[in-house]
Amino acid sequence: MSGKELSFLLLLSGTLRGEIPDLNDGIYSKAQAEGGAELYATYCAHCHLPGFYANLETTWDGMSVLDFYYKISGSMPADRPRTLTQSQYLKIVAWILAVNGFPSGNNSMLLNNKLGLIKFKFGSI
Ligand code: HEC
Repeated sequence: MSGKELSFLLLLSGTLRGEIPDLNDGIYSKAQAEGGAELYATYCAHCHLPGFYANLETTWDGMSVLDFYYKISGSMPADRPRTLTQSQYLKIVAWILAVNGFPSGNNSMLLNNKLGLIKFKFGSI
């Protein structure tokens, strides 16, 4: 194999690896999480204490961020399901990630299939 081919392959594998982000890569922005904190106070706090969201570990191990988004956007707030916008639900998910200690990053989280690849993994590392 020539040096050129080898560096192409290295580049390619780096790109493929980079396409699957991790929860520790900072997949949401700080501003999103801050917005989510306000939305939580308005729409969720009368039923759930903040500590409720910190138990992702027991209930969501192995599930993806996209699953979690759909769970919340499809059934919450329980007294008025599906009444928030996509961007509002994303902010709430960002805030819940922050509550669980996952870092924020430079870019806002968007609703796309990548979120389906980002799984909650607890205790496995
Ligand atoms: C009127 C009360 C009420 C409000 C308001 C409410 N919830 Fe809930 N929520 C519940 C109840 C009851 C359950 C348990 C039943 C269930 O899982 O559907 C629940 C369950 C959940 C779960 C657990 C789902 C699972 O299977 O792990 C999440 C996450 C959640 N709520 C998030 C939210 C968020 C985010 C908001 C605000 C946008 C919200 N809830 C507002 C009553 C409420």
